[in-house]
Amino acid sequence: MTNRTFTMIKPDAFSKGHTGAIIDKIIQSGFRLVAMKLTKLSPEKAGEFYAVHKARPFYGELVEFMSSGTIVAAILEKENAVADFRKLIGATDPAKADAGTIRKLYAASVGENAIHGSDSDENAEIEGSFFFSGLEKY
Ligand code: RTP
Ligand code: MG
Repeated sequence: MTNRTFTMIKPDAFSKGHTGAIIDKIIQSGFRLVAMKLTKLSPEKAGEFYAVHKARPFYGELVEFMSSGTIVAAILEKENAVADFRKLIGATDPAKADAGTIRKLYAASVGENAIHGSDSDENAEIEGSFFFSGLEKY
């Protein structure tokens, strides 16, 4: 099944200059770019995006970090996109991520972990629509 996922290159990875290498790895891993943009989240928007984590102790830090700098938001297409992309980015905590994953290569900590990947088809659609509208099928 061909489907879509949504990703953000987070402020830590963008500010360290890893954007090009990460996009290259994503493409070389078989994902097609459907939409992509450089943007910055306000604290309000970051809070809205991660609203599911509102009750968690790390929510405040997460919102602050995600609104601290430029991000790259993108919609990606591939067979089995959501699960395959989660595999490519690796575990939330880079210390636990498999060798060769994006988080193992580019993330410093669980809080600043370089990249986001949607966790379900439903959330991929919701998150993609948060950043992009009026997309055609490419
Ligand atoms: P993401 O949504 O960003 O792709 O990350 P994820 O699915 O791997 O992890 P999730 O449970 O959705 O958590 C969202 C983000 O919150 C931060 N976090 N910090 N300090 C902590 O224990 C902790 N736990 C989670 C991470 O930045 C994580 O990516
Ligand atoms: Mg998540």
